[in-house]
Amino acid sequence: MMSETPEQHVKQDEKHPFFGRIRSFVHRRAHITPGQQEALNTLMQRWAIPYQPALLNFEEVFERQAPTILEIGFGMGETTEKIAIARHAENFLGVEVFNAGVGAMLKRIEQSDLKNVRIIQHDAVDVVNHMIPLESLDGIHIYFPDPWPKKRHHKRRLIQGPFVHLLAQRLKKGGYIHCATDWENYAEQMLEVLSAEPLLQNTANGFAPKPDYRPQTKFETRGFRLGHSSWDVVFKKV
Ligand SMILES: C[S@@+](CC[C@H](N)C(=O)[O-])C[C@H]1O[C@@H](n2cnc3c(N)ncnc32)[C@H](O)[C@@H]1O
Repeated sequence: MMSETPEQHVKQDEKHPFFGRIRSFVHRRAHITPGQQEALNTLMQRWAIPYQPALLNFEEVFERQAPTILEIGFGMGETTEKIAIARHAENFLGVEVFNAGVGAMLKRIEQSDLKNVRIIQHDAVDVVNHMIPLESLDGIHIYFPDPWPKKRHHKRRLIQGPFVHLLAQRLKKGGYIHCATDWENYAEQMLEVLSAEPLLQNTANGFAPKPDYRPQTKFETRGFRLGHSSWDVVFKKV
């Protein structure tokens, strides 16, 4: 599954150094259902890839050759499942740290017989830095990342310049990055940071209309009733 030598790995890092940390998540001791725990105990081996600082070969990971989309922070996997069903000709690599979320996603993979989803349970910054080859991805999805609303916490937001640069380097030419948020201030930050990345070009004039493939989440539906909005940004690698 891992395709490179330690030498290649060092080369990749020398070219693209970003050793920063983003404390974008807190370790939650959230409730985990017996079903999610059971899925963690029995299905990790089949559908999850252990974190290792070695580049992945997607053809081996997914047991086929197909466009590959990386999703960061899939939460409970509701959106991931819907998109993976609708876009069955593409591969989806989901990265999440949260135990209950990983358990829930594993259950979805089995229940919906999803052959095109794999999971890595680890900090996405490390995964992108050390496991995703340059110019290998067809798309990146980052939906409703933790908003860290207090100004002194903005440094914990995932969408910031150096990390976006790492992501852009891992996209193929013509590949896309699609982020969504319901926090206006974070939406503005997303637009600003992505616009400032020379490897990326906006597909819209400012915010993008919600692409049809992204389902409206339950949480968004409730928010809209309360008068909240959400914003999508979609950029392409040039
Ligand atoms: C607010 S939730 C949104 C979940 C989902 N995308 C949705 O739209 O419902 C953000 C998720 O990102 C995950 N996350 C935050 N930072 C992460 C990181 N560095 N690596 C992997 N997952 C991360 C959190 O654990 C959390 O589940």
